[in-house]
Amino acid sequence: MSPDRPAAVVVLAAGEGTRMKSSIPKVLHAVGGRTLVHHAVAAAGALDPDHLVVVVGHGRDEVTAHLAEVAPKAAAVVQEDQLGTGHATQVALAALPPLDGTVVVTYGDVPLLTAEVLQGLLDAHEVQGNDVTILTAYLDDPTGYGRVLRGDDAAVVAVVEQKDATEEQAAVREVNSGVYAFDAETLRACLARLDTDNAQGELYLTDVVAHAVADSRRVGALPVTDTWAVEGANDRVQLAALHRELNRRTVERLMRAGVAVVDPATTWVDADVTVEPDVVLEPNTLLRGTTHIAGGATVGPNCLLVDTQVGAGAQVVNTTSYGAVVGPDATVGPYTYLRPGTRLGRGAKAGGFVEMKAADVGDDAKVPHLSYVGDATIGEGTNIGAGTIFANYDGVTKSATTIGRHSFVGSDSVLVAPLEIADGSYVAAGSTVTDRVGPGELAVARGTQRNVSGWVARRRAGTRTAQAAQAAAEAAAADPRAGDKKGSGA
Ligand code: UD1
Ligand code: CA
Repeated sequence: MSPDRPAAVVVLAAGEGTRMKSSIPKVLHAVGGRTLVHHAVAAAGALDPDHLVVVVGHGRDEVTAHLAEVAPKAAAVVQEDQLGTGHATQVALAALPPLDGTVVVTYGDVPLLTAEVLQGLLDAHEVQGNDVTILTAYLDDPTGYGRVLRGDDAAVVAVVEQKDATEEQAAVREVNSGVYAFDAETLRACLARLDTDNAQGELYLTDVVAHAVADSRRVGALPVTDTWAVEGANDRVQLAALHRELNRRTVERLMRAGVAVVDPATTWVDADVTVEPDVVLEPNTLLRGTTHIAGGATVGPNCLLVDTQVGAGAQVVNTTSYGAVVGPDATVGPYTYLRPGTRLGRGAKAGGFVEMKAADVGDDAKVPHLSYVGDATIGEGTNIGAGTIFANYDGVTKSATTIGRHSFVGSDSVLVAPLEIADGSYVAAGSTVTDRVGPGELAVARGTQRNVSGWVARRRAGTRTAQAAQAAAEAAAADPRAGDKKGSGA
């Protein structure tokens, strides 16, 4: 990202996060489809450091396993007991070979901290020729944060924690974000001099600042204007606020890139989702995971698409989809449920109240209404009538159904797998099909209709139905033409 790559980035993530009131380690809570620690290592990794270290403690096994998945280049280092941010940094450095150059320290619970902000810190560190550069923020309410103390010449002299601050110090509005760039040798030398002589009995990383100043090393600060970038998620209220802000930024980025977002407030898009220009996202649409929407498609209102690919010009409305591929110009919905392994071809249709799983639906093939399609291949141009069920499961095994091209399955059919229905064939409505249907054949597999004359007069005498039947019979007798109608006998 820059010629002056840091020697190391250390991400502190050992804390318990008790205020989350959760059995899940704090940094494994997610916003925008990524965990907090995933956001942190993504920003850190973009600086291309020689070493990327995450200090883990509480929930170490889960956090380490998660890191192996999302950031294989990050090394997890265990801090057995949480003795303070200074101790955590000591533990990280002890796990690394001797370093030369710049070490960045950041936190695992600050999801809106971007690579750009970190790069700005590195640039300021370099330009100012500092040994320590603190990322700071001016807050209207600095409660809880460490305060940045400056001398008469405005030079930074120390960071004092809220719990150790005098009233005068506590009135300072410039706070320590907890993100720093250090000269490696300065950091190592000053960490060695930390003590626990403070209100919390911890080894404070912040005390490195005063030690560096005492050594006449250069200490500077870079205030951020975007305070969201340094905001940590300490409880679920902050987590939700950070999620909303991250989403606002994601949706704004999409709009600036040519995506029509009708209602940004109800459109939720994960960080890894991609959307091409001229897509329309209607209200109440949630795009998650690795979902991709191609140009000219319309998605929503009321869609949840997870790891789903939507082709150019497709229309998807009121749909829930996990892992489906929707072809160009296909139509889906409303009230449609697509499950993993579903692929709709170009111009194909999965209509109202249709559920599909592992279904390969050919170009221009249509399943318009009220059907279940599972473990099936449907050929190009084939039409599946309303209420068709692909019976793919006998309680033990799942079996497949293959239907050829330009075939027609009548409404309310049950297709019992394993089954093959050939190209250019028909299934009569209401059939339960268990045997192969050959090319050009019509399969009829249903009871034959039998009309019992006079049944209503005999078995429902005196009812309105019987009166209606009687009236119809008399009308037919009076009008000979009506008598032509088959089945009109009373
Ligand atoms: C710290 C800073 C404070 C700053 C604030 C910004 C210190 C002494 N204070 O305070 O100046 O304004 O962050 O949010 O550094 N952690 C470990 N191991 C530990 C202790 C902490 O990994 O032993 C991690 C935590 O998981 C967390 C981060 O370090 O991600 C900060 O720890 P926390 O206890 O929240 O520090 P604060 O008291 O908020
Ligand atoms: Ca904190």
